Amino acid sequence: MGSGLILGIESSCDETAAAVVERGSRTLSSVVASQIATHLRYGGVVPELASREHLRAIVPVVRAALAEAGVGLGDLDAVAVTSGPGLAGALLVGITYAKALAFAQGLPLIAVNHLEGHIHAVLLEERGSVVAESGPLPHGAPEDDGTEAALALVVSGGHTHLYLARPVDGTWRYSLIGRTLDDAAGEAYDKVAKLLGLGYPGGPWIDGLARFGDPLAVPFSFAQIKMKAHLGGRAPRTKGAKTAPIAELDPHFLFSFSGIKTAVLRYVELHGLRTEAAARVPRMVEAGRPPATRDEALELCPQGTLDLIASFQHAVVGDLLRKTFAAAEAVDAERILVTGGVAANRELRERFTAEAARRGIRVAFPRLALSTDNAAMIAAAAWPRFVAGEFAGAELTADPSLVLGR
Ligand code: KG4
Ligand code: ZN
Repeated sequence: MGSGLILGIESSCDETAAAVVERGSRTLSSVVASQIATHLRYGGVVPELASREHLRAIVPVVRAALAEAGVGLGDLDAVAVTSGPGLAGALLVGITYAKALAFAQGLPLIAVNHLEGHIHAVLLEERGSVVAESGPLPHGAPEDDGTEAALALVVSGGHTHLYLARPVDGTWRYSLIGRTLDDAAGEAYDKVAKLLGLGYPGGPWIDGLARFGDPLAVPFSFAQIKMKAHLGGRAPRTKGAKTAPIAELDPHFLFSFSGIKTAVLRYVELHGLRTEAAARVPRMVEAGRPPATRDEALELCPQGTLDLIASFQHAVVGDLLRKTFAAAEAVDAERILVTGGVAANRELRERFTAEAARRGIRVAFPRLALSTDNAAMIAAAAWPRFVAGEFAGAELTADPSLVLGR
């Protein structure tokens, strides 16, 4: 099995990423080329532009990942790639490249679900130590520690999903416990930031500004989701019908973030908070100048806007926290993993950590660089599949609505 070096490739959304990870536990390199500058002026990801940028970036990013890891193609044992969910055109760039590379080198190809990747961003760190970009390799890293079942909250721009992750015969199995019925939490962050005239992606902006406002100023609340009212009594299936019908999930573990976005909009209109920032930041973006720094934004935002931002974040994090801990209790999980772009949020980390301590259970997050999209998590998730010999064939293609767990 060689030294267990897997090259991971990720191109499902707006980051082109490649990484080399050894035995699913040691990150030798992790390179991420972000397309934020490309999508900034549109306030969201434009799929056609994403594919074009992936095409441009994929070769240099893979080369950089190999060079940083100090390995050549001949040292690799497998190539792993995200096969879904994500943007079809974007996924195809990574898949096509990974296939060509694997078959040219005679290496096995491993398909990875992006959501499973996010979960493995945490497991990767538990299994070993992440090597700093240019630092030496640590020796004696603890061997495979992350083998205990966990409740995983994957919370990003595209997903807000709760899974029970269980190790079974060396690989991982996932059961869907809860999910959002509409927007993902990160999407709500992005939309609220956009309507306030802040930059894209919105999460880091709101995160940075929230501490300057009063989190209790605007009493946003999340009503318990009533299945019947929400779904009109039907039992709809999600796209592809491969997943558990939503109606089979416990409504206590369902999320809905489109309402708070509308509530923020109403509040802004009612209180005349369409601020200078809302007018000025887009103009700055159009002029090709990246939006203001946090301090610049702080100057543009009146106190009312900062209070609104703090209250929005407090409500979203509170909702994620309550449902996640309730689900952990329901499935008897003694630990919680929180991962995905929104897991980078400072208030979320603080409150989840405090609540876990209060309840006497454990909570783990990936380091900040591995919270958002990256390829180390893809190479890490591929490791158990590599060991089990679960390889993809030449027919592998993009599955934009790929489902995790049954
Ligand atoms: O995991 P990710 O990089 O891509 C997806 O798979 O979606 O997550 C990106 C999302 C964006 O919605 C972004 O606004 C959000 O994560 N995000 C944050 C923070 N950093 C990124 N949300 C809240 N607080 C943050 N610090
Ligand atoms: Zn992601």
